[in-house]
Amino acid sequence: MTEARESALQRLDAYWARGRAFLGTRYAIMGGAMSWVSERNLVAAISNAGGFGVVACGSLSPDQLAVEIDGVYERCDKPFGVNIIVMHPELDALVATCVGRRVGHVVLAGGLPPKRTVETLKQAGTRVVAFASTLPLARRLAKQGIDALIIEGMEAGGHIGPVSTNVLAQEVLPHFDTVPVFVGGGIGRGDAAALYLAMGAAGCQLGTRFVCATESIAHPRFKQAMIRANARDARLSVQVDPDFPVIPVRALANKATERFEAFQRETIARYRQGDMELGEARLAIEHFWAGALRRAAIEGNVEDGSLMAGQSVGMVTSEQSTGEIIAELVDQAVNAIALSVERGAAGIADGNRPAHRPLPASA
Ligand SMILES: Cc1cc2nc3c(=O)[nH]c(=O)nc-3n(C[C@H](O)[C@H](O)[C@H](O)COP(=O)(O)O)c2cc1C
Repeated sequence: MTEARESALQRLDAYWARGRAFLGTRYAIMGGAMSWVSERNLVAAISNAGGFGVVACGSLSPDQLAVEIDGVYERCDKPFGVNIIVMHPELDALVATCVGRRVGHVVLAGGLPPKRTVETLKQAGTRVVAFASTLPLARRLAKQGIDALIIEGMEAGGHIGPVSTNVLAQEVLPHFDTVPVFVGGGIGRGDAAALYLAMGAAGCQLGTRFVCATESIAHPRFKQAMIRANARDARLSVQVDPDFPVIPVRALANKATERFEAFQRETIARYRQGDMELGEARLAIEHFWAGALRRAAIEGNVEDGSLMAGQSVGMVTSEQSTGEIIAELVDQAVNAIALSVERGAAGIADGNRPAHRPLPASA
């Protein structure tokens, strides 16, 4: 390794030291939980490669989650986490499963974490991570005892918020360092991760980049669709009428996304003609996508299922091992820092970066 790269690597390690310490990993790279895809194999592979794998349990029962957690323990002895959607009807039992199996970190997603859930986890010594979509919410969650936050922009795959990662990072990172903040959404390369780290992030979270990992059980047709897709193909679900809410989801455009718009129009027309109650019509629209991610990701029905993916999908160009993906991300981050040092720039080359400071204009 050249001297410049060695010193850039040291800087990178200093940047994400807080994130690494929090996660207990070699790299502060979280593999964002992806329903159906983030199961024992991918999670263990990410953690074994020095990142932090997170089991997705949005679609699992407590017993299924227990099997998944045991499966990760069998495959790796490195830290990993579990992502629990707080609206899950068996939230308490899922939490108990994590506590009983001594899962070190739990990520609470899909809404504000209930107080009792946070308390139960903390009493058990579990580190609790939650999503913050604004600076005031970040402050509130830190006060509530959340140990780390993820800020995730609308470039991400799956269910998303309304603000871009770029803007969220600027709104939160320079002003908040009460707890470590991980940045996710639209990160496809290590250079981008390095930038957020230089702004004060403790680490990053990537989902889409890991879908096509060799160790991912996603169906070959699902992986092929990702490999073929460009950033612009990862579109937001369309809501055709303000009275009929649609949860914003980013996924690759396919026949199902086209049909969804027609389905909404037909359902709303039926309601207006008096053939359906309002609640019934809203529920029909809400249920359109039920089971759709599994259909595409596991069964390989890429036309009728949901191809959830972030805009970083354009940077997924082949199936690679998780180890290669993580090594590539680290390499790109190191190169970006080394290049920045070479150019004499501040910002990502600045080893003395305090968290509470906006990037200089030159960076
Ligand atoms: C196929 C897919 C499924 C996902 N499922 C979940 C989920 O079940 N729970 C969750 O909190 N986030 C979910 N996400 C979001 C990821 O955890 C991660 O935060 C996101 O992918 C990061 O943005 P990126 O896709 O631009 O890398 C999903 C993302 C994808 C692409």
